[in-house]
This record gives sequence, structure tokens and C-alpha cells, in this order.
Amino acid sequence: MDILHKLRSYREEENSLKWEGTFAEYLDIVKARKEVAQTAHSRVYHMIKSAGASEKDGQKVHHFFGGEIFGLEEAIDRLVEEYFHPAAKRLDVRKRILLLMGPVSGGKSTIVTLLKRGLEQYSKTDEGAVYAIKGCPMHEDPLHLIPPELRDDFYEEYGIRIEGSLSPLNTMRLEKEYDGRIENVMIERILFSEDRRVGIGTFTPSDPKSQDIADLTGSIDFSTIAEFGSESDPRAYRFDGELNKANRGIMEFQEMLKLDEKFLWHLLSLTQEGNFKAGRFALISADELIVAHTNETEYRSFIANKKNEALHSRIIVIPIPYNLKVSQEERIYEKMISDSDMAHVHIAPHALRVAAIFSVLTRLKVSKKQGIDILKKMRLYDGENVEGFNRVDVEELKKEFQDEGMSGIDPRYVINRISSAIIRKEVPSINALDVLRSLKDGLDQHASISKEDRENYMNYIGIARREYDEMAKKEVQKAFVYSYEESAKTLMDNYLDNVEAFCNKNKIRDPLTGEEMNPDEKLMRSIEEQIGVSENAKKSFREEILIRISAYARKGQRFDYRSHDRLREAIQKKLFADLKDVVKITTSTATPDESQLKKINEVVVRLIDEHGYNSTSANELLRYVGSLLNR
Ligand SMILES: Nc1ncnc2c1ncn2[C@@H]1O[C@H](COP(=O)(O)OP(=O)(O)O)[C@@H](O)[C@H]1O
Ligand SMILES: [Mg+2]
Repeated sequence: MDILHKLRSYREEENSLKWEGTFAEYLDIVKARKEVAQTAHSRVYHMIKSAGASEKDGQKVHHFFGGEIFGLEEAIDRLVEEYFHPAAKRLDVRKRILLLMGPVSGGKSTIVTLLKRGLEQYSKTDEGAVYAIKGCPMHEDPLHLIPPELRDDFYEEYGIRIEGSLSPLNTMRLEKEYDGRIENVMIERILFSEDRRVGIGTFTPSDPKSQDIADLTGSIDFSTIAEFGSESDPRAYRFDGELNKANRGIMEFQEMLKLDEKFLWHLLSLTQEGNFKAGRFALISADELIVAHTNETEYRSFIANKKNEALHSRIIVIPIPYNLKVSQEERIYEKMISDSDMAHVHIAPHALRVAAIFSVLTRLKVSKKQGIDILKKMRLYDGENVEGFNRVDVEELKKEFQDEGMSGIDPRYVINRISSAIIRKEVPSINALDVLRSLKDGLDQHASISKEDRENYMNYIGIARREYDEMAKKEVQKAFVYSYEESAKTLMDNYLDNVEAFCNKNKIRDPLTGEEMNPDEKLMRSIEEQIGVSENAKKSFREEILIRISAYARKGQRFDYRSHDRLREAIQKKLFADLKDVVKITTSTATPDESQLKKINEVVVRLIDEHGYNSTSANELLRYVGSLLNR
């Protein structure tokens, strides 16, 4: 469909959503679909719920945030279950300001933006539909028209509790425009839109001296005073502050704790009593979700200030730490890059992964648990299997530090370093080493890193580098062997046959000649030596493997070369050792001969076709691995 068609159908869709009618007609809608009268908090909660949820590794995953927020499943679930869910049930938390607290660039604003954009879309659906008194700048809830004396009766008939009183402006309009006939007041369906300032607001603190409370609560419209005769005529007031406009929906408070106190007190009353004061009018009822965000330092100094005590108790804090999963961190970078002007640049395989390894390491705290180094912890957090540890251990690790993930390197720093690596290179192609180098160089310019942290971070760059060396070697190795899996499997089967014969003191039968032979000691040792199994230890090593195999068999599972970490490592190293010389010679000769050239070209083609490289990065990889092997 071309864009003009799309424009037309977009307009048609918007038009089809339009509805207006009298209050009497609106009550029919309420009767049929109670959800149109839900509170702002309830609407947000149902929006999140309507996107669905699933469970992964015992953790609830809310799909509403899927594809945009990565690795924060726990924090998000806490946000939903500790705030949105009870708030939707009109419990007291609803009367508190939601404060997302976390380190810089940890996704707080992104979460709020998702909620805002989501609510705009949701208000276009049947379940999320919102209605308001027509012509009201605050899109006031039509049910406010029901006088307090009749609200118990209304509850009896409709099962809906009405909160808040009719605003001064609509009280006056009811008299002047409708002659007091509530049933005739015109109601319309509204669609939330931040651009049009309907139901979604954002407030950013500016210079405290010049910031005006009118930004929040509106102001007198002096041009109309003459017409209406007095400043206290609500028609001479512009209810166009951010709090007015966000009524029924969401109001985002950026950097809330930087705000002047007098602003905060307005918020206090709004959240606590559900109303705020504007101009010379009676209190104005508002129903909106107030969400603010801040970093930990600001939060700490805020609560340290005695003057803020009352406010403090009106805030519910949900920590939003950095993501701690390497694979999710890679996805964050992918998303940020595809949203940036670097989207056309070739980023070699593993480049983002090594950056992710580095950042996650800077965020982790070193565990005091036995036998767990930071690299193992990193793997466990990412859901990898680490021999000797299980899910329970992971849960324990997570509980060891309360504030893990609240510090370290942020995603934006990484993206900035990647972009500066790109600028430095002539070709639009960067690899893992370029990224690591750039991350390292950047540490010197990073003002807020302490000397101690810098040392640790340098160390983590080293770890990430070593991880990369392994990945790079493996990658080249795989590209050299036609089918890596196949070779690994064959070698493994061969080894296991021999081990079995050795332990059971049997002979082994040659598959071709049928001849009986002794187990091939040389082959077994050549594999075991790869992981340092000594001559004395070989017997127990082999027996342990046999026990493993039978344990697998009992459970009806297949034992393959991935089932045993050390054995897998041994097989990989052995395969690589066999190949090493070939690779070494082919990748590091300055003037390769014809057959070497042919082999290199084949490998380059395979790296490009099957492993995601381009010709620049494939050649860089080969050169690097060549140099590693010649060390
Ligand atoms: N866990 C995450 N999942 C997805 N994107 C993230 C995550 N953490 C940070 N980002 C990305 O990093 C950048 C900064 O995030 P932002 O939401 O502005 O952070 P904050 O408001 O906490 O400072 C954004 O591009 C955001 O998409
Ligand atoms: Mg932010």
C-alpha cells in the first residue's frame, strides 16, 4: 500500500473512532462496558496485561515491554506487581508518586515512553476507550457530573464508585450552557495524544527561578477577563498546565527531585487527595498516573533532607538497575545502533558481544561464594550452564548484593565509543578489537570513574579480550573445517568407544576389518592432555565419564559432546590443535602459495556467507587469529 492510501485509511480509522452524544447516551455505554469508567491507573494496568505475559526460567515476562526493554524482567515485574496491579485496585499505592530510581541510561525514560506511547494506542481500542465532557480542557470524567448526593444510588445501579468532584469550569458550564440539565451535557470519546496534549503530559524542570507554577496548573487568561468580568470566573482561566492536560492518563516528571519544593507540594496534594489547586478556584480533581525518574545520588540526598519527609512517604520507589545479562545487553546495543545513524555500518560478529561482556562485568559485584569467579557469575546470570552450579545458586547469587546493577558502565557510553571507533576507521566496518580499544581509550576521558574502578575496568577489558580470543579462534577453526559439528561428534564417538573398552577391559573392533584391537591409548591421551588430565588421573577421568553416560542413559537422554563441559573443551582443543598448523601456515604467511590462497579464499567466503562477516572483517579476523597462533 502506498503512503497516500495509508494516510487515507489512517484518517478513516481515526474518524471511525469518533463518538459524541449526551450524558444520557454515555450512561448506556457505561452500563454495557464498565471499563470505560476505569481510573487512569487501572487503564495502564490493563493495557500492560492485555499485551500478555509468559514465563521464562521461572521469571514472568511482560510482553508489553518486549522488543524494547531487555534484561529487566525482574524490575519490570516488580513495577507491575507492586505498583500498577494494586493501584489498579484502587489501593493506597495509587496515591503515591511512582519514582523509577536507577543509574544513568538504564532505561528509565524508555520505560516511561513506552507507557505513554502505549496508552495513546490503547485509548484507540475498545477496552482502552476513554470518554470526557466535551469541550473541557481537562477532558474531565463525565461521571463527575453525578452530584455527590446521588453517587450511592449510582453505585447501586452501576457498581461503579465515582471519585472527584465536578471542576469549577464544568460546574459553570452546566449552569450556563445546559441549564443544569446533566443528562444533556455533551460527552465525547477522546484519543490520548501527547502531541495534541490530551491525557499525556511531560514536565521537565527548567531554571528554578524562572519556572512558573502555571506550567503545571495553568494560568489566568488576561485577554478574557474583560469579557467575563472577573479573575475568578473559570472561563477566564486557561486550564492548560501539564497537570491539567495529563488528566485521565499519564504525567511524566523528568528529573523530579531537581524541582523546586513548591512544585513538589502540588504533586503531594494531587496524589494524596486526588486534586490540586489552580488560580482562585476550588480544588480541581484529577485522575492521573504520576511517574517520575531519578538517579540514586539525587534520591539519597533527597531523602537525607528532613524537609522532604512528608513527600518521601508519598513516593513509591521502584529500582531500575542495569541489565546484567550479556546476551540481552547485545540486544540493547543492536537496538540503539539500528535507531542511530550508524545503522549502515558493518559490525563484525562478536564486536557487540565483547562490549556487552565488558559492561556487564563492570556492573557485577564479586561474589564471596566459593568457586565462583566473576566470569562464571556472568555466565550464570545469562542463563548459561556452568558446571557445578544450578538455578538455586543463581538465585542465591542475586540475593547476595542488594544494589547490584546500580553502577557500572552504561549502554550509552558503549554506543558512543562504538561510534567514535567508526569515525576513526576509514572503512565503515568495525570489529571486536576496534570496539575494545575504543572502550579502553574512553576510560581515560571518562571523568566520573574513580581510580579504583578504572583499574578494575582495565582488568575487565582484558577479560573481554581473552574471551574474544577464544571466540575468534573457534570461529576461524569452524570456518576451516567443513562441518565442525560433524568432526566434533566423530571425534567424541571415537573417544567414548575407546574409553568404554578401556574401563571394561575389552577390545575394540575395527569397523572396517572387524579385527579386534586394544583401545587406542594415544588417541585418548591426545584428547585428555588438552585439558591437563595427567597420566595418574586418566583412569578416574575416564570412569567418571562412563558414569555420566550411564546417568544420562537412565534418564533417557543422549550424551553428546556438549554434555560434559571439560570433555567438550578437550574435544574442541584437540580439533583445533590438529588444525592449528594448517591455520597458522595459511593465515600468517606473507606470501601464500597458490593452494594456501585458495584455502584462504574459501575460508573468507565461508565467514562471509555463513558467519556474518564482510570481506574487511573476515580478513581482519584471519590476520588476528594467525597472530594469536604464532605467539
Ligand atoms: N534494559 C534496557 N533495554 C533496552 N534499552 C535500554 C536498556 N537500558 C538502556 N537502554 C537504552 O539506553 C538508552 C538510554 O536509556 P534511557 O531510557 O534514556 O535511560 P535513563 O532514562 O535511565 O537515563 C536508550 O537508548 C535505551 O533504549
Ligand atoms: Mg532519562
